[in-house]
Amino acid sequence: MGVSLFARKPIAAPDPGAAGGLKRDLGAGDLVMLSIGAVIGAGIFASLGTAAAGETLADGTVVRYGAGPALVVSFVLLGLVCGLAALCYAELAAMIPQAGSAYAYSYATLGEVVAWIIGWALILEYAVGNVAVAIAWSGYFTSLLSGFGVHLPGWLTHGYFQALKAGDPAVRALVDTAPRVAGIPVVVNLPAFGIVAAITWLLMLGVSESKRANNAMVVVKLAVLALFVIVGVQHVDPANYKPFAPNGFRGIHQGAAIVFFAYIGFDAISTAAEETKDPQRNLPRGILGGLAVCTLIYVVVGAVATGMVPYTDLKSADPIARALTLAGLDTVSWIVSAGAVVSMSAVLLVFQYGQPRIFYAMARDGLLPRFAARIHPVRRIPTVTTLLTGVLVALGALVADDTATYDLTNIGTLAAFTLVCAGVLALRVREPQRERPFRVPFVWPVALGGVAACLFVMQGLPTSAWVAFGAWLAIGLAVYAAYGWRHSVLRTGRPVEAGPDLEPH
Ligand code: ALA
Repeated sequence: MGVSLFARKPIAAPDPGAAGGLKRDLGAGDLVMLSIGAVIGAGIFASLGTAAAGETLADGTVVRYGAGPALVVSFVLLGLVCGLAALCYAELAAMIPQAGSAYAYSYATLGEVVAWIIGWALILEYAVGNVAVAIAWSGYFTSLLSGFGVHLPGWLTHGYFQALKAGDPAVRALVDTAPRVAGIPVVVNLPAFGIVAAITWLLMLGVSESKRANNAMVVVKLAVLALFVIVGVQHVDPANYKPFAPNGFRGIHQGAAIVFFAYIGFDAISTAAEETKDPQRNLPRGILGGLAVCTLIYVVVGAVATGMVPYTDLKSADPIARALTLAGLDTVSWIVSAGAVVSMSAVLLVFQYGQPRIFYAMARDGLLPRFAARIHPVRRIPTVTTLLTGVLVALGALVADDTATYDLTNIGTLAAFTLVCAGVLALRVREPQRERPFRVPFVWPVALGGVAACLFVMQGLPTSAWVAFGAWLAIGLAVYAAYGWRHSVLRTGRPVEAGPDLEPH
């Protein structure tokens, strides 16, 4: 127990058989494609509606104010915030190329307890984030089915907590009218559960992302969004842009805090650092280029959506499809919904793939029970954690409320981003001589600006999100005290025998 709570894991030299051996063949263009693949999903297809229209409970309580047509300003601001955080991610990712993303970086920079907190917060980004994506997927899938004349009853397409909180009286009524089992109303989001089960099954078979599949997905995403813009722009009524910012900066800020979800995922590409040609030049170009492209797409899509219909009409599970339907464009709406379903399946795969690997990294360090570090001998995948993640996310998707899930994901991710920005500075001070394949330019203003900007976006989230996040942190610290503190490999010096490494050899 001689090692402190803030003990730092030494940064391993790149293993020539693993990290150093990967082929450096990604250019800036490939990184842009990778980030579009991981980023564009539920945020733009679904959370955009709440960000524009705001959220009010059935009893009239305002949960958040909407940005209205000024949503485009929210998108631009978020692009800048994420740009700062992305640069910091890139420096750490290039220096510490290990499985586990921000968790691994912070273990080496800010010490064990902070790393644990980040790992715990990343569960919000990956697992809870996927609950939100699954619910959004279900919204589009349901509208797609109704295009075929298949109308699922409301109690099979809404989570219990979503119905309980709904401002729409028809959805709220599901809690009273749904069939009951042992007196408990059955209000479940069956499609959301089903898609998570299907994705988990694919992952158990050993399916993973590939560059070619990713490129195909990117084409689908860009094609449907382009279709939406080209057709939608012809139905824009300038009257819908007035008032431009109905709730002033408060609406822009609170809208940004929920639609931040649309940007999550660019951090995932920083892990491609070891495979990037000339990372000093291409990493910032790729990461910032990807962010710039996504920001531009979001601004254009946001401008068209809020121009087609009054922004209040976008409050829906499938706002992009709804805008088209309201404009009488049923066929286009159907095509866009199909594209959204495909795009969001890809996002689900990326995060459902990432979460077990973060659990794996934490278990390998002894902070989670060793069963979580078990690797399938033939398929070389973390079977136990893949299944565990699948069960947790599927159950969450069955009952959760969509907007509360976005909030919790965003607050956790922003907390992790904040610590990553701080970590860059901490390491510059402590180990200024260490080799950095990529260095953040103007590091003090960029990293401090990143910390401040992320905290500011977090402030736009409703109180309920802060309460939930506080509870999540408290549980996390209790788990650390009960388990990680005693079993940490760094602190006890006892390695975890976990089987073969996940990194490619
Ligand atoms: N940014 C990802 C999405 O919007 C998580 O689905």
